[in-house]
Amino acid sequence: MKKIEAIIQPYKLDEVKEALTAIGVDGMTITEVRGHGRQKGHKEVYRGREYNVDLLPKLKIELVVGDTRYEEVIATLTKAARTGKIGDGKVFVYDVVEAIRIRNDDRGDAAL
Ligand SMILES: Nc1ncnc2c1ncn2[C@@H]1O[C@H](COP(=O)(O)OP(=O)(O)OP(=O)(O)O)[C@@H](O)[C@H]1O
Ligand SMILES: [Mg+2]
Repeated sequence: MKKIEAIIQPYKLDEVKEALTAIGVDGMTITEVRGHGRQKGHKEVYRGREYNVDLLPKLKIELVVGDTRYEEVIATLTKAARTGKIGDGKVFVYDVVEAIRIRNDDRGDAAL
């Protein structure tokens, strides 16, 4: 299993969610975060306004998916989140050791 952690532009959430739902991704966690990439201290446009601040609002999406699916999930997510402008975000991928559904002790892929 892999954990896909994506930092995206907040206004892209609906598009990303729809694209992931369309390929059958069920579970995800969303968190409001703030961050910056390599343009630290430089201007970035957010909702049509230019900001000089260091930390901009972003959304973090966390998904745990089976090993056979994760490349498809990344491709779908990045396509939906991309505008081609700076600040589009980033994807980090982690190996996941175990997943457990608390309700019934399902494990591994069955718990996703
Ligand atoms: N190396 C990193 N580690 C952790 N979080 C990061 C890292 N790089 C970017 N992020 C997160 O992703 C968000 C978006 O980054 P961003 O898309 O601006 O990256 P970038 O490297 O500056 O690329 P670009 O040149 O396309 O803007 C940041 O606000 C931050 O929350
Ligand atoms: Mg940037």
